[in-house]
Amino acid sequence: MANPTLRFPEGFLWGASTSAHQVEGNNTNSDWWAWEHSKKRMDALTKQGLNPTDFQSNDAADHFNRYRADTDLIKKLNLNAYRFSLEWARIEPEEGNFDIKAIMHYAEKIEALKKRGIEPIVTLHHQTNPNWFTKKYGWQHWRAPELFGRYAEHIAQTLGTQATWWLTINEPKLAVLRNGPAKIYNPISLLLALRHLISAHQRAYDALHRANPEAQVSIPYNFQAWSANDFYSVDEFLIRTARRLDHGWFLGKIKNQLDYIGVNYYTAYRFSFRRGLPAWRQHGGGIVSDMGWEIYPEGLYHILHELGQQYDLPIIITENGIADASDSRRAYFISKHLEAVHRAIGNGADVRGYCYWSLMDNFEWAHGFEPRFGLIEIDYKTQKRTIRASANHYANIAKTNTLKLTE
Ligand code: FCB
Repeated sequence: MANPTLRFPEGFLWGASTSAHQVEGNNTNSDWWAWEHSKKRMDALTKQGLNPTDFQSNDAADHFNRYRADTDLIKKLNLNAYRFSLEWARIEPEEGNFDIKAIMHYAEKIEALKKRGIEPIVTLHHQTNPNWFTKKYGWQHWRAPELFGRYAEHIAQTLGTQATWWLTINEPKLAVLRNGPAKIYNPISLLLALRHLISAHQRAYDALHRANPEAQVSIPYNFQAWSANDFYSVDEFLIRTARRLDHGWFLGKIKNQLDYIGVNYYTAYRFSFRRGLPAWRQHGGGIVSDMGWEIYPEGLYHILHELGQQYDLPIIITENGIADASDSRRAYFISKHLEAVHRAIGNGADVRGYCYWSLMDNFEWAHGFEPRFGLIEIDYKTQKRTIRASANHYANIAKTNTLKLTE
């Protein structure tokens, strides 16, 4: 069949994602802001011959002030969903003091989306913490679940009925493992922190449901595809163990507090043996992103298929994207991953939506501003927005609810 067309289910959510700290700008009460501007971090960058300001979020994409115009762009791209995060550090800049102006800001943002027929998918926590939280407590502290729970309760009471789709804590493992202010090195503290993140999710889940019985609540979990050289029979064991440690354990603990599964997927890892010892590396062989991550859509298929069989729950792809400054691989990346999504749906996975990461170029954490993940290009000097060619490609898929296979 020449150029077959893949149709997606009626009402499929076509979205794009961002997170507050990465796009809003001037998130001055957060732990990341403190870290980026600390002497220690700046000296370390200078020592590597880098310019510290390239690694400070500062105005970022100024989305905090430009969200209305950005919402028009989402509409222009025919998207019917937008995943973004609330910033805890803005909402509770000092311990126990909630800022009503920050809440109003997010209420208006949600309104602006809904007015344009765009479904808000709201994340409570995406990597950053208020600086007071990291300085005084941190996720390993026994009070962390209660403190996050109080914030979640506040959101549930003020904004809970404004949106249906909610996400609690983005990539919980990376919340405490990513190079940055909240990274935990000590394994005991790490285990404690993971336990606390589980209980923080549970508290937020309950709070949102108490406030809004219609709420659909999940966690955006980061999945990697794992594979190996079939040569060694021990590979299968390694893969199973990796999957269990990677997501099986965590999701198992919260399976009664998940209304759907949020999948963040970027790339794959392959096991091999080096000097007789198991090691893993990036998948190897295929086309890579500007960050060296291999494009491996097959991995997304396997993850969706496995989740579909294991959990009787809907799935939303909450992040999937590529750093591609030249925009030469993004359209291909999107098509190939959507092909995998479509195949997984055909084989029984109940996938309800796809959010490309990211709506716009942004501050990529410790990597600074260089990686360009956006459907929309940002000129950081002028804050000018330019829609990339790949965004038009995605917009056409969203508009027609179909993907045309080109080969
Ligand atoms: C994910 C993060 C997101 C962004 C992408 C590239 O791990 O959730 O904030 O950094 O990677």
